Amino acid sequence: MPIQSKAVGLPLSRVEGPLKVTGGARYAAEYFQPGMLFGVVVPATIAAGQIASIDVSAAERFAGVVKIFTHENRPSTAYRDSKWKDQVALPGHPFRPLESDRILFDGQPVALVVAESFEAARDAATLVRVHYLPEESHTDLMRAIHTSYCPPIPRAKEMMPPPPRGNAQAAFDRATNRISADYRMDGEHHNPMELFATTVLLGDDGTLTIHDKTQGSQNSQDYVCNVFGLATETVVVRNAYVGGAFGQALRPKYQLFFAVMASLDLKRSMKVEMSRREMFYLTWRPSSFQTVSLAADREGHLQAIRHHAVHATSRYEDYQENVANWSGLAYRCDNVELSYEIVKLDVSTPGDMRAPGAATGVTALEAAMDELAYEVGIDPLELRLRNFVHRDQNQDKDLTSKALHACYREGAARFGWAGRSPEPGSMRDGVDLVGWGMATGLWEASMSPAEAKVQYCANGTVVVSAAASDIGTGTYTILGQIAAECFDLQIGDVTVRLGDSTLPKTGVEGGSWTAASSGSAVQAAAKAVIATLLKHAGELHNSPLARASADEVEVAEGRLVLEANHQVGVAISEIMATAGLSSIEESAEVGPDKALARKFAAYTHSAVFVEVKVDSELGVIRVTRVVSAVAAGRILNPKTARSQILGGIVMGLGMALHEEGMIDHRTGRIVNHNLAEYHIPAHADVEDLQVIFVDEDDDKASPIGVKGLGEIGIVGVAAAISNAIFHATGKRVRSFPITIDKILESEIRQ
Ligand code: MOS
Repeated sequence: MPIQSKAVGLPLSRVEGPLKVTGGARYAAEYFQPGMLFGVVVPATIAAGQIASIDVSAAERFAGVVKIFTHENRPSTAYRDSKWKDQVALPGHPFRPLESDRILFDGQPVALVVAESFEAARDAATLVRVHYLPEESHTDLMRAIHTSYCPPIPRAKEMMPPPPRGNAQAAFDRATNRISADYRMDGEHHNPMELFATTVLLGDDGTLTIHDKTQGSQNSQDYVCNVFGLATETVVVRNAYVGGAFGQALRPKYQLFFAVMASLDLKRSMKVEMSRREMFYLTWRPSSFQTVSLAADREGHLQAIRHHAVHATSRYEDYQENVANWSGLAYRCDNVELSYEIVKLDVSTPGDMRAPGAATGVTALEAAMDELAYEVGIDPLELRLRNFVHRDQNQDKDLTSKALHACYREGAARFGWAGRSPEPGSMRDGVDLVGWGMATGLWEASMSPAEAKVQYCANGTVVVSAAASDIGTGTYTILGQIAAECFDLQIGDVTVRLGDSTLPKTGVEGGSWTAASSGSAVQAAAKAVIATLLKHAGELHNSPLARASADEVEVAEGRLVLEANHQVGVAISEIMATAGLSSIEESAEVGPDKALARKFAAYTHSAVFVEVKVDSELGVIRVTRVVSAVAAGRILNPKTARSQILGGIVMGLGMALHEEGMIDHRTGRIVNHNLAEYHIPAHADVEDLQVIFVDEDDDKASPIGVKGLGEIGIVGVAAAISNAIFHATGKRVRSFPITIDKILESEIRQ
């Protein structure tokens, strides 16, 4: 069904916006019940070792305290690791709160204090005395890098490097122009507005209604049922509104476990909300070290690419992401060698954070491409154009589409790239050195299995439902737009229900796949409703649609009509009245098309252009202008789509200049676990951001032509900023974030 007009493609404001700004949209921590209890966690203050003893006596005497859980009295739970593995678990042993006296990372919960009020629980938590037997901890990636290893069990086979092609070493040795550089990135920590929180409401019949901050209500439901041995029908998980997540909430976190554990044990409703500090202990983008070597001929044609990537993981799980493989598919090159290893440290398991792997890997590749452009002596954009490839050379597959040329062209034109003077330090604005840099971004365009239900009511309204999560991306709005389009309605006629484990099955919201997946499911369910309408229309006396097939009809202005001739048709109200129906409800399930996937690979692409101004005396860096041109297939809603890219750019800015998890490696403790000392971009850091969506028709990436936008916006941004800083200052900083001290370390080129 061609999606054309009234709703899809319009820059509509998000439908839940008014609820969010008036406080009407309730988040996981905002559900209350008289008599409910509150839990607060006591975090470990060592990174490795053992608990010798815990003294809870003072805390227990504190007014309002109901119970204190430690490893010594924790209720029994599932024994086998498999029961603890959520839908997106990693190879290794899933973390089990209060499992034993072992300490695996700084901030690990060692006790849960439950009290009649949050304040009592929080105060009493400070009275728990823990005596530790600390052991030597290792948290510095560079000091432990000699222990790196290739993950024995891949998280996904696509994350493992493809076999080498050609002979990168020989080609590198032969080449006239080459560079080799090391890139360091410190760990980054997720800081969504909403803290991890779980409210468990205990029903009279013993059922649990759980409001959880998660990217997948059914993932949390499965986890709770498996860990506590509960029947699926006794546990409902809701996440109707999520205050940002960015990958952090893909896997269940300990507050979910604690809230359910205490609720079952004490037979009371429970709430456990993490503090901002606790958030820092969990799920971070791992610190990484990468070496990229590039070789080209004198015209800049790539002769060899080598990319070796290493990042941190925990002692208990092998976190993995695709860091290096992008370097094998971004550009045409016959000699490629990619390698990937991880290092165990005394830290919590890292997790997916917006464009996991690409955010770091493409940054290294694109910074190296800039270095190569200077080595060859051609414009950085020209270098990319000379190595353009319309094929996935890693997998030896065609691409579903790649409108990256248009991104380069339109982005460069909007930015004014042609006016760039190539020499570093050659552009000035008073005391500021001006730098222009650019980078390419790419991310996967994938689909994951998703189901949706569409109900068409006789009064001309539609209800869409799915267990999909809207983590702030605009899913409510775009699904409403798709349904409105299918039935030729306004978006106000459509109600979208999401974030409830009782609704049609949907996987976690991640990987930028929700629009393509749930969107296609909604369209398929709407088509099924239309097919049912047609069947009933055929039963009408002298039906004008008696011989029409489902793909020949559509809905227009409340009538089921022939697509080819809208004069021929029947009013839907008449069809439904005659059939005696007040509503028609159909479900549909979609998933990746395996036959297409064997032949085609699908990616989103971007070209990012950045202007920085660097104070030549103080080294202060400002990102004054960013143009991001994105090719991501059909854009369902230019307004919510633009918001996704803006957010990605801002996170990229944080990655380039601000965000830096600092660990005191003597003790293994995170020292800047708060928003005062861990810097994220604030309003003053964000200046002129421009987003362009180039036209890209794609009939293979997903049934609705959508590729997804949640992650592409961050990819390449940090590289473009670092490249601009080089252009401004002549100084190549290969350690992220690029802070003032690193700029001042050597003299700025005047
Ligand atoms: Mo995304 S990092 O898969 O939520």
